[in-house]
Amino acid sequence: MKISSDGSIGVFDSGVGGLSVLREIKHLLPADKILFIADQVHVPYGEKTLKDVRQYSFGIVRFLLNQGAKMIVVACNTASAAALHSLRSEFPEVPIVGMEPAVKPAAEYSRTRKVGVLATPATFQGELYASVVEKFAKDVQIYQHTCPGLVTQIEKGDLWSLPTQEILESALNPMLAEGIDTVVLGCTHYPLLIQLIKNIVGEEVRVIDPAPAIASRVKFILDEKMIKVSKSLYSNLSMFTTGEPGNFENAISIFLKEDLQVTHLAWDQTNNNLHIIGL
Ligand code: DGL
Repeated sequence: MKISSDGSIGVFDSGVGGLSVLREIKHLLPADKILFIADQVHVPYGEKTLKDVRQYSFGIVRFLLNQGAKMIVVACNTASAAALHSLRSEFPEVPIVGMEPAVKPAAEYSRTRKVGVLATPATFQGELYASVVEKFAKDVQIYQHTCPGLVTQIEKGDLWSLPTQEILESALNPMLAEGIDTVVLGCTHYPLLIQLIKNIVGEEVRVIDPAPAIASRVKFILDEKMIKVSKSLYSNLSMFTTGEPGNFENAISIFLKEDLQVTHLAWDQTNNNLHIIGL
C-alpha cells in the first residue's frame, strides 16, 4: 500500500542519527511532505561491511521511491560512503543528496591546521572520505576517531551518562592535546550530542555539524529542478522503522519535539525489499 502518491522527500539513516538532518530540513521546509526511514534492525551500520550497507540502502531507496519520494536524502555518512555513487548510477533520474565528512569547511577554518574527525569505521574506509581529504585537506593534519560504542549509546537514549562521556573524552582528549581547533562530526548521530561535545572541547574549538548545509542543499535542488513536493499546514512527516516503533517514537519526541506515530517495516531478505508490517 502506498502512504501517499504525492511527491515527497525520502530521507533515511540506520537509526535516530538521521533526525539531526531531518530537523534541519524541516526547519527550512516546514510544510513539505517527508518520509523518513530508520533501519534500526541493522544499526550500527558503521560496523557492517560496505557491501551490506549498500544492499540495505538500495532496498530502502526502492521503498521510498515506491511511496512517492521525488528526491532522496542519504542522512547517513556510512550509507553515503557505501552507496551514494551506486545509487546515483542506478537511479539517474532521481536527485540524491548524501553526506560527506565536512573536511572542506574544517580545512578552510582551521588556523592550527589540525582537525579532528569523528566518524564510523565504514565511513573512514570509504573512497568518499579519502577523496575529500585528498581534495581539500592535503596540508592539514587530520586526527580520526571511530568512537566505538557511541552510536549504540545514542540509540539507547543514553545521551548524558558517564559511559557516553567517557567514549567522547577518549576520542577527543588526545586530539585536543595535539592542538586541533576544529572537530568534524562525520556521523549524523553525533550532532545529537553536540552540547556534550562542546562542553568537552571548550569554546576555542569549533564543532562542525554538516546538517544545516545539507538542508540548504536539499532546498536548492528542489527549487532548481522544480520538484513538486506535497505540502501541508500540519506536521507532514511519515516516520518508519525496521526496529521497535515505540522506541523510535520516544526518540522522535526527544529530538524533534513532536509526538508522531511510527510505522513498522520489515525486511524481506530474499528480495531485499521492505514492506509495512500488518498490510
Ligand atoms: N548515522 C550514521 C552515519 O552518519 C550511521 C551510524 C551507524 O549506524 O553506525 O554514519
